[in-house]
Amino acid sequence: MILVTGGAGFIGSNFVQYWIEATGESVINLDKLTYSGNLENLAPLKNNKKHLFVKGDILNRDLIRDLLHEHQPRAIVHIAAETHVDRSIIDPEPFVNTNVVGTFSLLEETRRYWDNIPNKDSFRFLHVSTDEVFGTLGLDDEPFKETSCYFPNSPYAASKAASDHMVRAYHQTYGLPTLISNCSNNFGPYQYPEKLIPLMIIHALHGKPLPIYGDGLNIRNWLYVNDHSRALQMVLDKGLPGGYYNIGGDVELTNQEVVEMICVILDELKPNSPHKPHASLIQYVKDRPGHDRRYAIDARKIHRELGWKPKQDFKTNLRETIQWYLENEKWVQNMISGDYRNWIEQNYTQRETVV
Ligand code: NAD
Ligand code: TYD
Repeated sequence: MILVTGGAGFIGSNFVQYWIEATGESVINLDKLTYSGNLENLAPLKNNKKHLFVKGDILNRDLIRDLLHEHQPRAIVHIAAETHVDRSIIDPEPFVNTNVVGTFSLLEETRRYWDNIPNKDSFRFLHVSTDEVFGTLGLDDEPFKETSCYFPNSPYAASKAASDHMVRAYHQTYGLPTLISNCSNNFGPYQYPEKLIPLMIIHALHGKPLPIYGDGLNIRNWLYVNDHSRALQMVLDKGLPGGYYNIGGDVELTNQEVVEMICVILDELKPNSPHKPHASLIQYVKDRPGHDRRYAIDARKIHRELGWKPKQDFKTNLRETIQWYLENEKWVQNMISGDYRNWIEQNYTQRETVV
């Protein structure tokens, strides 16, 4: 079996389901269930004996030690993290705790466990990271490669960069067979609606303003979450220990383009909406401090070495995602009550509209 951390979040829940379906191998899923972790994301695995959920913190070393000892996993896929840039700007401390110290705790317990297993060479520790560690690009710059320098700009990116370095050090120093993947912006079903795409879909459906930061011309590379899960499986199966793998989609879009596409698709899917045309809800608001201008990924290594490519185009996946949010009203309602409302107030009331 394998141990996955953060498997109740957006990417983690997708990966756990994908893994069990694709390989039939069991998963121990360790997740603290923070505001973004949700057992409803794992509803399709209810009663599936291949899935063992454990509520717990990656900072709890006793728990990790016990889990490793009891279940003897052949690999760890480390997905748990604090993940939202805007939250890291308002309160960076949980990012240092979970992303840096938490990754260290997991590495340290893994090293002790790994030291005593017979088949050391076939063990893997896959650390799931982000393209944000590379910093920002100008319009004419080459996309990020595996060899690009790390220049993180937000507390989130800096905490992920620190964790990547720690993982690298455990490979170089102790020989732990690690893998690091740096992926671009994901989207798809079950994404917590603090991130751009689900936030805009849900605001548009409810006739609320669509807050685009700054001039809306920041560029992101987008990848459908199912493609990310498939890439992670390939990296785990075929990646070389000590290796870095960039993962990204074929598309680079400005935030304004993404929001306009969402509005057009919603106009089609909800022809009788009183909020039509949804693009009339767009508002330009005060920019994010230190806002990275452009992310772009050179994913040729994973194409070439592991044979991975995204399956479908961005527009098809975006339409599927919007359809999913329309059909899963109950999930959305549960997500946008409680903590979510506080977050929207904290992050958006201070951002006056920019004309
Ligand atoms: P998410 O916020 O939806 O999920 C994070 C999960 O981690 C939650 O289930 C949460 O409960 C859990 N968690 C947080 N702190 C924990 C702790 N201390 N102990 C145990 N569990 C804890 O995030 P996501 O978007 O699914 O991102 C998952 C991973 O993928 C992160 O490592 C992130 O850096 C990376 N990543 C995300 C994207 C993206 O676009 N979302 C892109 C590239 C890489
Ligand atoms: P986000 O989904 O937070 O991902 P990241 O910051 O990790 O790339 O944001 C994606 C882009 O959308 C980013 O350039 C910031 C922008 N954005 C807005 O313009 N408005 C919003 O309300 C949010 C959440 C993001």
